[in-house]
Amino acid sequence: MTALDRNIHPVFNQILGRSDKEKLLNQHARIIWMTGLSGSGKTTIARNIEMELNKRGFLTQILDGDNIRTGINSNLGFSGEDRYENIRRISEVSKLFMNCGIICINSFISPTDEIRQMAKDIIGEENFIEVYVNAPLNVCEKRDVKGLYKKARKGEIKDFTGIDSPFEAPKNPIVELKTDKLSIEESVVKSLETILPIIEYKQH
Ligand code: ADX
Repeated sequence: MTALDRNIHPVFNQILGRSDKEKLLNQHARIIWMTGLSGSGKTTIARNIEMELNKRGFLTQILDGDNIRTGINSNLGFSGEDRYENIRRISEVSKLFMNCGIICINSFISPTDEIRQMAKDIIGEENFIEVYVNAPLNVCEKRDVKGLYKKARKGEIKDFTGIDSPFEAPKNPIVELKTDKLSIEESVVKSLETILPIIEYKQH
């Protein structure tokens, strides 16, 4: 018998599942879903949450416009139909990460109850940590980090969320961050208070 024979026990009728991978990674996989207007602070907070989780040994993946709308969803725009398809694909991709034991941090406007409900249905409500990044429109517009509100007001961009396309505030978010009142650090601390107890590994 070789060393290899002694160490490898082939199991033919068994596949590794999410819980095996969560055990390996010493974490519980969830989808942290940041919803809010453009300029509300979703991506900045997502990046800071990721840094803090990384320091504590958690494996995460950020999904946002930078890696989704330029890649897998580069054929989609901002009509109601395209936004729905955008979020549907993101939800399916997130589910693959989750089933691999990885914590996804998604930051997408995801503007309507219907769209967020579809994401929850795909991902499973029990896996979905909804974080509402709440800054009033006038604050986001004043920040105008990407200059897009100005263009939308001039009519150079159509269907812009908050201007000529709706945003419905989530009714029961697990975390709400009023980013006109909280600093980035405070928002991250508040998010982690809720997130950490959920993702810390517990033996079943
Ligand atoms: S969602 O509505 O489908 O969830 P998503 O979060 O992917 O939107 O993309 C929003 C980002 O795309 C904004 O932060 C902004 O930078 C850019 N953008 C370009 N056009 C629009 C538009 N018409 N409405 C909203 N955001 C837009």
